[in-house]
Amino acid sequence: MIEYKSPEISKKARAMMERDEKSMFGAHTRTREIPLVVDHAEGARVTDVDGKTYLDFGAGFAVVGTGHCHPDVINAVNDQMKKLIHISGSDFYYMPQIEVAEKLIQITPGDFEKRVYLGNSGAEAVEASLKIARYFTGRPRMISFLGAFHGRTFAGMTMSGSKKVQRAHLSALIPEVYHIPFPYCYRCVFAQKYPDCIKQDYRGVPLIHCLSYLTDVIFERLIAPDDVSLIMVEPIQGEGGYITPPKEFLPALRKIADDHGITLIFDEIQSGMGRTGRWFACDHVDVAPDIILVAKAIASGLPMSATIGKASLMDPEVDSRAWRPGVHGSTFGGNPVICAAAHATLKIIETKLIDNAHKVGAVLKKGLNEMMSRHKIIGEVRGLGLMLGIELVRDRGKKEFFPPAVTRDGKNIKEVITGECFKRGLIVYGAGISSLRMSPPLMITVDDATTAVKILDEVIGLVEEQLK
Ligand SMILES: Cc1ncc(COP(=O)(O)O)c(C=O)c1O
Repeated sequence: MIEYKSPEISKKARAMMERDEKSMFGAHTRTREIPLVVDHAEGARVTDVDGKTYLDFGAGFAVVGTGHCHPDVINAVNDQMKKLIHISGSDFYYMPQIEVAEKLIQITPGDFEKRVYLGNSGAEAVEASLKIARYFTGRPRMISFLGAFHGRTFAGMTMSGSKKVQRAHLSALIPEVYHIPFPYCYRCVFAQKYPDCIKQDYRGVPLIHCLSYLTDVIFERLIAPDDVSLIMVEPIQGEGGYITPPKEFLPALRKIADDHGITLIFDEIQSGMGRTGRWFACDHVDVAPDIILVAKAIASGLPMSATIGKASLMDPEVDSRAWRPGVHGSTFGGNPVICAAAHATLKIIETKLIDNAHKVGAVLKKGLNEMMSRHKIIGEVRGLGLMLGIELVRDRGKKEFFPPAVTRDGKNIKEVITGECFKRGLIVYGAGISSLRMSPPLMITVDDATTAVKILDEVIGLVEEQLK
């Protein structure tokens, strides 16, 4: 919780923090790590109420991919506001909704007919996808991963395996969800070593140990795979710590799903929309899911999500097992103003930002990797494009799992680092057990990347001295 009475915080900022604390729901707001009281933002810069400007390497949790307040998005929203703000996309036709759906069909992986459901938040896309797969297969059981984050609704929370605080005292959750370990190779729960952990399955498909645990243990001892409706996975775990699985992971998961008629769902809510230097993280290994979920960066900060799936799963005209009209819907889903923002966003990402994420991401990753030679508390640097994670440990030479590295006064070092970066004008967030995530707007420059590395280098050096 932020100590807003600290003398370092201005009177103006403190007054707002006090009002916020007295009015806002703390379960939602009191996990804040830095005392940032925002006035306005543009591009990759955020200015606080005292006029201090920060370089934003968080992008509002990977949402403002196009940068804050992109002029093309503002113009698209303004134009649409004058024409139609709301009528309800479930009951009437209008062009912005159709255009966005068509574009999403075009850019998402999979050379098959698709359908799109537009919702308002990531968790809503997760909910929709579970309903689609459960309805279609008629099977009750679901597979998810430890470390996953899929949102805060009952289904999202049940599918997540991120932090116990998100689930405690809220049982009963949705039944029949089984969590298996995600390939977090740096801290492997099976104490295996990649790539030594790979074995071939009976067809010669390379199977990393985590997945042979699914096929050889879970599917043999606990659940029959033909009782399983879906496997939900983040191609790169976001909240879990920007954990990037080995390249064998998604292709093998695809084969397992195909073998058993299981719907494979990729939650690309954080990793999608150009962040990794391709439209989607799964594009890097050429694997198409049956359903893909997007949200966050899709409308440059306006609330929107999309569930894009095979037409056979979503349209009873294509397959009679798909859900009927009326099974699902949303009042605001596909709102014309937000669709206009999304359409403008998709255009900016396609024409400018995917390449930039790739190019500047490489510079940033190189800079972070070079820091490793100076700092033993960096365990590894991982990720793709501008979705980069830094694993923080006490000493890279001596791997430890729990507890996370702490300073002499008992603070998790990821929190100390984010706090010190903030004081030096850089916004970064922690993630997972003990990681930092770099998720800047996709329009940052090479100079921005260099500035961020310089600040991090100084801060990490400082924190290294304070270790217990
Ligand atoms: C991978 C992933 N899925 C789902 C969600 C939930 O999205 P929302 O907060 O918009 O409901 C998030 C949010 O952080 C996420 O990162």
